[in-house]
Amino acid sequence: MPHSIPDIRSGDVAMPAIGLGTWQLENGAAQPMVEKALELGYRHVDTAQIYGNEQDVGAGLAAAGLPRDQVFVTTKVWIDHFREGDLQRSVEESLKKLRVPQVDLLLLHWPKPQPPLAETMAALNDVRDRGLTRAIGLSNFPSALMAKAASLSAAPIATNQIEYHPYLSQKTLIAKAKAIGASITAWSPLAQGKVADEPVLIEIGQAHGKTPGQVTLRWQVQQGVVTIPKTSSEKRLAENLDIFDFALSDEEMARIHALARPDGRLGNWLDKAFAWDAE
Ligand SMILES: NC(=O)c1ccc[n+]([C@@H]2O[C@H](COP(=O)([O-])OP(=O)(O)OC[C@H]3O[C@@H](n4cnc5c(N)ncnc54)[C@H](OP(=O)(O)O)[C@@H]3O)[C@@H](O)[C@H]2O)c1
Repeated sequence: MPHSIPDIRSGDVAMPAIGLGTWQLENGAAQPMVEKALELGYRHVDTAQIYGNEQDVGAGLAAAGLPRDQVFVTTKVWIDHFREGDLQRSVEESLKKLRVPQVDLLLLHWPKPQPPLAETMAALNDVRDRGLTRAIGLSNFPSALMAKAASLSAAPIATNQIEYHPYLSQKTLIAKAKAIGASITAWSPLAQGKVADEPVLIEIGQAHGKTPGQVTLRWQVQQGVVTIPKTSSEKRLAENLDIFDFALSDEEMARIHALARPDGRLGNWLDKAFAWDAE
């Protein structure tokens, strides 16, 4: 019996601390993984328009047959749909594919210099006001731009979904998100699988009877960070959820933080108009 998953309060919603990431679950692969994840006890699924799998995620949600309010569903608006009108239409399409009347969280996938952020934030608030999403948020927004988006939004920013794993410090963004009442959601939380070979994580894991992946995910949720590991393996699906029966000491947390390095970033598609936080 899995331990129950804690919620992380985030803007105006409570997000289950761990969810299933679905990027690269393509050609129908997302449907069985979503279904299996929900059977195992996951209650949070992350997708995006650009992943091309909203339809399969929707089929997995439908096949699992859980009451709609038992599963936290996030999708993201792709940058081609940031104009007033386009954004709303694209979200209606996402909902049709996902087979739900409303998602729980809708994110802007990457920041973009045009159209003006005020226009996009107004459209994002409009879909929330119309009930197409319960909450709104951002993804890949550096801290200054995150604060600007928050200042342009009537609704609170629930989360900023950013790359975060032991090799990449996100000290500044985590502190700034907290200051505006938002959470951080960690993408590529396992550094795309690289954590499995990390001696420090292997050693800490041995002390707890856990794998390096489990230690990493525990390190994130223990900081109040939401995490969304992806896997295409049923074995790792269960492994990644089994992180709520142990705790890392302050010293272990600090050893993992110390793994951050300047070249630790894996995904860098930020528009040149913006700059990442230094750390
Ligand atoms: N907002 C954004 O711009 C953005 C960008 C990237 C990702 N994301 C989101 O974040 C999710 C996760 O990120 P990600 O898919 O890039 O990377 P990730 O979750 O860090 O790593 C996934 C990789 O790690 C392997 N893996 C899974 N569990 C493992 C474990 N316990 N131990 C060792 N290896 C393990 C997987 O292999 P197997 O499949 O073989 O298990 C896969 O190759 C995505 O699916 C997506 O939902 C968002």
